[in-house]
Amino acid sequence: MANAIEARRLDVGYPGKHQAIKVISGLDLTVGAGTFLSILGPSGCGKSTFLRVVADLLDPLAGDITILGTSPKVVRGRRDVGFVFQDSTLLPWRTVRDNIRLPLVIGQGRLTREIADRSEELLQLMGLSALCDRYPHQLSGGQRQRVAIARALLGEPRLLLMDEPFGALDEITRDRLNDELLNLWRRTGTTVLFVTHSIAEAVYLGERVLVLAANPGRILFDGDLRSIKQEGNRCSRDDQAIAAAMAEMRQALGEAS
Ligand SMILES: Nc1ncnc2c1ncn2[C@@H]1O[C@H](COP(=O)(O)OP(=O)(O)O)[C@@H](O)[C@H]1O
Ligand SMILES: [Mg+2]
Repeated sequence: MANAIEARRLDVGYPGKHQAIKVISGLDLTVGAGTFLSILGPSGCGKSTFLRVVADLLDPLAGDITILGTSPKVVRGRRDVGFVFQDSTLLPWRTVRDNIRLPLVIGQGRLTREIADRSEELLQLMGLSALCDRYPHQLSGGQRQRVAIARALLGEPRLLLMDEPFGALDEITRDRLNDELLNLWRRTGTTVLFVTHSIAEAVYLGERVLVLAANPGRILFDGDLRSIKQEGNRCSRDDQAIAAAMAEMRQALGEAS
């Protein structure tokens, strides 16, 4: 199976007035298909910018990037990539059900039987069945975020990009959504890139954790947690090893900012 992501000497940034503003420099990164990758790093180090390149919302300045064996553009065209952002916007004049279905309905030109069936499944899975006829303003922040996740998952993307998706939520909601996300990931085998500010969340979710540094954005720490987590990427096989890995990440984050 092709890797989910292969980046080689990748420079990422934004066009400037006179010269480009380089945010990430010379990134080499390979992410295996089906990996749950957590990404930590100080604010401004380029986490969101990197996800934009993966999603084909921004062209790299230099270097190569291959997503699912092809270019970001092709992957985007095939709708193989889904996103959830910190403050995902829903359409205020559409119900929960329509918000979830709409991107795929537009993509396929009509509401197919499959879209209808699958969206009902996802509504149930995300605990939204009772809310499906509500409008976004009638939902809590956690409920809105669940709608955004269901919307991102409906197309069964092979790659799911999540940029601080639970940052604005209370801890209990966040814990629940973490578990729901892990269950979904186990069921579907999709590759997940998950950006968070929380070391605990990064370790709870990720099989692998990157810590990025800023100026220029680069990888400071790259830890594979599979050997210290339980089967199915479950935490706490070896609490001491997990604590040690978290301490290393904390130190890397300290150096990074
Ligand atoms: N549209 C843009 N144009 C120019 N610079 C930008 C733009 N968006 C972000 N940046 C800059 O790129 C750097 C990385 O930003 P970002 O990827 O959002 O960081 P992070 O997500 O890690 O907090 C920051 O210095 C930010 O100011
Ligand atoms: Mg960001």
